[in-house]
Amino acid sequence: MIIRKMRAPDLPTVTHIDELCFSQPWPPEAFDHEMDNNDARCWVAELNGSVIAALVLWRVLDEAHIATIAVHPDLRRQGVGKLLLENAMKAAYSEGARIFHLEVRTTNLAAQKLYQAFGYEIVGRRPKYYKDNGEDALLLTLDLNLPVTEPGKLDFLTEALHDSTRNPGQDR
Ligand SMILES: CC(C)(COP(=O)(O)OP(=O)(O)OC[C@H]1O[C@@H](n2cnc3c(N)ncnc32)[C@H](O)[C@@H]1OP(=O)(O)O)[C@@H](O)C(=O)NCCC(=O)NCCS
Repeated sequence: MIIRKMRAPDLPTVTHIDELCFSQPWPPEAFDHEMDNNDARCWVAELNGSVIAALVLWRVLDEAHIATIAVHPDLRRQGVGKLLLENAMKAAYSEGARIFHLEVRTTNLAAQKLYQAFGYEIVGRRPKYYKDNGEDALLLTLDLNLPVTEPGKLDFLTEALHDSTRNPGQDR
């Protein structure tokens, strides 16, 4: 499996995966728009030549927002989401991001487990955020300016700094 930047020919598959994964999928043109957005970083996971997962991250100054992450339903619990998120966070970190945010449905325990494994913590709630069923969103944040509570967990980010020193300007 490889993690790489999203490209225009990936869009039909990315959109299809999004529709399989979410009750409120992004409109098809949204991913196209994000690939042109200077503040967005669009990634996919590819297995045997097929796109199986996608992630979009928005980065502004030292903050990054995980806008969406989706793994094809047939290929979950095999480490794809973890690898994709790790890769996107590493790249954002090497560009200066130190605070990571995201929203997640209160009932989406799978995603919450994934984020918590990275050290994201619940910092707030947006009532009735999701229009389809009125579900609340939990706001999760990982603030790397705070002391690390579990040493070792985020070592992959420090590795990113070494990588970017060796290969400066690799991202956009
Ligand atoms: C959330 C999602 C991206 C996880 O992708 P994935 O490839 O299945 O996740 P991984 O296999 O990398 O799992 C990494 C860790 O996350 C946690 N996790 C993932 N899925 C889980 C589940 N169904 N139940 C409990 N924990 C889960 C576990 O800690 C897991 O580690 P483990 O397998 O060693 O126990 C995937 O379930 C998905 O696409 N869901 C639909 C879209 C979505 O909800 N996106 C998030 C919106 S905020």
